[in-house]
Amino acid sequence: MTQLLHYDPSAALAAVPDCPFADSASLLRDARQQVLADVKLYREQGDIPNDKQPLDAGFIEWPDGLLNDMKQNGADSQIARIEQCAARLRDSVDSVVVLGIGGSYMGMRAMFEALCDPCHNELDRKDRKGVPRIYFEGWNLDTDHQSALLALLKRRAVHHDSGTPEGRTAVIVISKSGGTLETAVAFRTFREFVEQQFPDCVQELIVPVTGDAGRLRDLSNDAGFHDVFSIPDGIGGRFSVLTAVGLLPAAVAGINIRRLLQGAADMTEHFRTAEYGSNSVLDYTAIGHLLETGNQITTRVLSTWGCRLEAVGLWYDQLLSESLGKQQLGATPLTGVNTRDLHSRGQQHQEGRRDKLITNLLPGTPQQEVLKIPMRDDDFDQLNQFSGLEIPDVLAAAIGGTNQAYADDKRPTADLRLQTIDEYSLGQLFQHLMLATVVEGRLIGVNPYGQPGVEAYKQNMNAILRRRVASS
Ligand code: PA5
Repeated sequence: MTQLLHYDPSAALAAVPDCPFADSASLLRDARQQVLADVKLYREQGDIPNDKQPLDAGFIEWPDGLLNDMKQNGADSQIARIEQCAARLRDSVDSVVVLGIGGSYMGMRAMFEALCDPCHNELDRKDRKGVPRIYFEGWNLDTDHQSALLALLKRRAVHHDSGTPEGRTAVIVISKSGGTLETAVAFRTFREFVEQQFPDCVQELIVPVTGDAGRLRDLSNDAGFHDVFSIPDGIGGRFSVLTAVGLLPAAVAGINIRRLLQGAADMTEHFRTAEYGSNSVLDYTAIGHLLETGNQITTRVLSTWGCRLEAVGLWYDQLLSESLGKQQLGATPLTGVNTRDLHSRGQQHQEGRRDKLITNLLPGTPQQEVLKIPMRDDDFDQLNQFSGLEIPDVLAAAIGGTNQAYADDKRPTADLRLQTIDEYSLGQLFQHLMLATVVEGRLIGVNPYGQPGVEAYKQNMNAILRRRVASS
């Protein structure tokens, strides 16, 4: 196991010295036991007690399961199937539209922004190393947004040549239920686009990822698509980033999905075995929980110190709020991106209500050429005093200065440090945050799985639409 991400709560403990972190070992160990008992219950498919339903604990052993399947079944394994489909799409199209919402969208978006070149879609095909441009739709009801993408893809399709990927677009449609309106509406539109522009290869260019039942599954059974991937029962939407939901589009985008899975598997092992006090999942959960229950610190700010991590934060916003925001409980997540947000939210975090725990998500070693502050003869901005310093030096000063300002006012912060932003560390981070969420759910007596509260808007929306159609 290479190095794992590191969690350091020392600044939070210094800011809130009465936090009973050291005395909470047995509380956290018990919660871990409950989560591991859930895994066993799920694995053995026995009678699941009412208060544990739904029990979507399948995500915990899933990365290990996929990696073992690959070792045993090689080219017939699920990973190999995903990689083969991804290679086929990479060779045959220049754009891929990924349709999905919520758990069927946020994880892939997070991976795309964290792991692909920030200018990916602007690069030409050679500089993209044959990876298609990636677009996301089906997560909104914004006609202008969808129309603009459609118009762009149509313009490209005009120039397509059937022998090459240029101008050709594939659609990966992701919906576990197969009935989510936003995604279904967008799929109608983009399916029609593929049928009209590329009538000879519709089955190759549409790839559904869906659950074992539902309208999208029925269509997939009938339509003869070249590839269809399943979302397993027992893994809920927001816990599904490391199933085909995230892995297929990630593999298309050239992301090493084996390293992602290895990172997640190593994090699960760490969670199972490391002692409280040096177990990043348990320690992270404890600090959030203890500050919330003991000090009314109910807002969790994930303060990302890298633009490429913003969508990871948005993925986590969904994970925490949809999992624990029940029974009038659950902390409120908030993603920040620094240093941008030091110039906006920073004021409130420094002097506003004392209801925030700020967790710094630190990106580790940069991966591109490191820029420096250049020297200039005119020194018009008086920056020559800093010339030669690297941007990471300036970032380190911003991090240090911000943490010190919070510490001086006894505002709690903690650090979650990645080695670097790569597949291995992102796999760890996903699993770390998913595990921490379910451990906290067991601690506060909230079932972290399921999202009954999301149904209300859907029912109302459908009723309004039906009334609208009936009256027209
Ligand atoms: O976490 C969840 O289960 C939800 O956020 C779903 O992912 C989201 O509602 C999309 O559902 P579906 O994949 O069925 O279209």
